[in-house]
Amino acid sequence: MARVFSGIQPSGELHIGNYLGAVRNWVELQHRYESFFSIVDYHAITGMYEPADLRRRTRDMAISLLASGIDPEKCTLFVQSAVSEHTELAWIFNTVTPLGELERQTQFKDKSSRQESILAGLLNYPVLQAADIALYQSDLIPVGEDQVQHLELAREIVRRWNSKFGIDFFVEPKPLLTPTRRIMGLDGQAKMSKSLGNTIGLLEEPAAIWEKLRPAVTDPARVKKTDPGTPEVCNIYHIHKAFSSSATVEHVAQQCSSAGWGCIDCKRVLQASMETELGPIRARAAELRAAPARVEDALLAGAASARAIASETLTETKQIMGLR
Ligand code: TYM
Repeated sequence: MARVFSGIQPSGELHIGNYLGAVRNWVELQHRYESFFSIVDYHAITGMYEPADLRRRTRDMAISLLASGIDPEKCTLFVQSAVSEHTELAWIFNTVTPLGELERQTQFKDKSSRQESILAGLLNYPVLQAADIALYQSDLIPVGEDQVQHLELAREIVRRWNSKFGIDFFVEPKPLLTPTRRIMGLDGQAKMSKSLGNTIGLLEEPAAIWEKLRPAVTDPARVKKTDPGTPEVCNIYHIHKAFSSSATVEHVAQQCSSAGWGCIDCKRVLQASMETELGPIRARAAELRAAPARVEDALLAGAASARAIASETLTETKQIMGLR
């Protein structure tokens, strides 16, 4: 059976960008493939942070994932730092990764341009990501579009290692994208991202979601309610496509382009569609928050299964390389 692996940073609560770009797909894939999902806390320490805050965000991310439908009976859900093989293989992969490839990564260029002193961990971030994937000999990596370049590098690292040691040992992973691979933020300017403050949290209450939806950017050419709009250029229409039924999406498009509805009418319908999907997730999250031992046990069991496979891969890797 093909293996699926993916990771998410412990940013606390999920937002609808990473839910639609990745996690909703994970929930479906766990039934069809041997799946590993990791909360990648080692990736989250490349800048300044508070340990207590990281601890809370890791737990909250676990709650968000479980509430979204990640089922520890169907897949392996674990926290990366509980499986130390990840950092060990990352060091090994550092020795076959060209510096130029790391410097070319868009996310590195973006993040480093916003910082005065750049840490080596930020540069080497994609090497750890390659190690995450390779430890489980993963074939398919369900991610949003922003991770595709990192995955190309992971393929390159695996190829270089295989060719250096003359053995086809590591599997070359392939990205798995969905139609919702790039959800834009409510400002309509950039991808939805916690660091840009343009997100809708998956667990936010309907009133809080409405406060964000109401002023969200729509078709910029539609100034008055009587101006006909162009759905394809409207960010809200794209979010409709992710949450509303196809009949509703068709109706929305027709009402928009004929100036039947104003943008507020359209947003109210979107809010109702979102609530149909997110209401039950919010309820499950509240139950899990009240049962912290259930969450902790699931993560501990996940780490034990992940470690068993990771240590096997690492032992073989070291043997091939002449290490102890
Ligand atoms: P992270 O934590 O930034 O995001 C988690 C997943 O959500 C997707 N995503 C989006 N998809 C669509 N629209 C958006 N606005 C949006 N924002 C986020 C991301 O593409 C990702 O799939 N480096 C990775 C974590 C990682 C990983 C791995 C992923 C570490 N090791 C191994 C795959 C395999 C990251 O920072 O994702």
